[in-house]
This record gives sequence, C-alpha cells and structure tokens, in this order.
Amino acid sequence: MAAPHRARAPLLLLLSLLFFSVAAAETGGATSHLHFYFHELFSGGPNGTTAQLTQPRGGTNNGSYFGAVGVVDDMLREGADPSSRLLGRAQGLAVGASLSDGALLTMLNFVFTDGPYNGSTLEVFGRALLGTVMERPIIGGTGAFRMARGYTLSKMVKSPDPNNLLILEYDAYIWH
Ligand SMILES: *[C@@H]1O[C@H](CO)[C@@H](O)[C@H](O)[C@H]1NC(C)=O
Ligand SMILES: *[C@@H]1O[C@H](CO)[C@@H](O)[C@H](O)[C@H]1NC(C)=O
Ligand SMILES: *[C@@H]1O[C@H](CO)[C@@H](O)[C@H](O)[C@H]1NC(C)=O
Repeated sequence: MAAPHRARAPLLLLLSLLFFSVAAAETGGATSHLHFYFHELFSGGPNGTTAQLTQPRGGTNNGSYFGAVGVVDDMLREGADPSSRLLGRAQGLAVGASLSDGALLTMLNFVFTDGPYNGSTLEVFGRALLGTVMERPIIGGTGAFRMARGYTLSKMVKSPDPNNLLILEYDAYIWH
C-alpha cells in the first residue's frame, strides 16, 4: 500500500510549486534602478565604519587578503560628496577569499533609511575586487524589495581622503 503514496508525493510537490509561481506572478512586479554612493571610513577612529576580525594569512603587504575577515557598517549616500544625503547603510561581512588576488567575498544588507525605500532592505552577495567594475548578485530583499532579484555594478571613484575614505559608485538593477 505504500507505493501509491510515493507516486502521489511528486504530484503534490508540483502542484504546490505551480501555486507558488502563480502567487508570485499575481503580486505584479517592478523594475527599479537605484544609483548611489558607498562610503567606507576604513582607518579606524571614532567615526570608522569597519572592524577587522582577523589578519590576512600572508601579511598585510601581500596582494591577497586571504583569511582576513571584516565587519562593516558603511554609508550609502546620494552623492560622492561625504556631506551628501545619507540614504542608508551597508551592513555585513567582507572576507578575503582568494589566494591569488585581492578578491573578497562580500555579504551585505543594504538598509535604506531615507527616501522612497526607507525601511526596505536589499541583500547583496558576491565577489568584489577593487579596481574593477564589480558585479554582484542581489539575492533578496524586504519591504518594497520583497522577493527581489537583480544585480549591482560598482566601481571605485576618486576620494577626497584616499587614506581614510573609500567611495564606490553603485548602480543597482532590481526586479521585485
Ligand atoms: C566624526 O564625526 C563628527 C560628526 O560628523 C565630526 O564632527 C568629527 O569631526 C568626526 N571625527 C573625525 C575624527 O573624523
Ligand atoms: C601572498 O600570500 C600567499 C598565501 O600565504 C602566498 O602564497 C603568496 O606567495 C604571497 N605573495 C607574496 C607576493 O608575498
Ligand atoms: C524612515 O522610517 C522610519 C520608520 O518608519 C521613520 O521613523 C523615519 O522618520 C523615516 N525617515 C525619513 C527620513 O523619512
């Protein structure tokens, strides 16, 4: 008597998958393009936005950050000017994950605190290599960005204070 039950299980799974895809389609969808600037104060001090938890295995002068783990609570601003409007924070982890170059694995929550997306978040997970145009997947979101998918493109821009302030220009393309 067990066989008929086993046969039915995949059908139930299929039906529930169909149900969820219809439910997702009914919520409609939007495409948003956000443009903002990421500001990181990395040299410590009272206003620093980073904490390094481990040193890189190869020492700090090695081109690879392999083994370094850092926590960030960086700023998302409207412009590259450090005094421009604060839109939110980028909170998460950066891990030196490459033996051969300076590539990082980054896991970031973009937490918006102003503007039309105040209270919503985007979850960004991916590889970052400074000095290149970095493409990172958006793997989810909350609030206005619930069920989000998409990607970000970011690149370094000239900083008024290169020994303390890292600025990245971000474009985020989001389906939600
Ligand atoms: C830290 O931020 C405060 C408030 O913006 C500012 O007045 C102060 O000069 C900053 N301190 C440093 C060391 O950057
Ligand atoms: C950097 O560190 C890695 C890992 O320890 C090592 O394999 C590599 O040879 C080092 N490179 C330099 C230039 O020191
Ligand atoms: C953002 O939302 C929070 C919570 O609803 C609210 O307290 C705050 O005033 C809002 N900020 C802006 C700038 O609208």
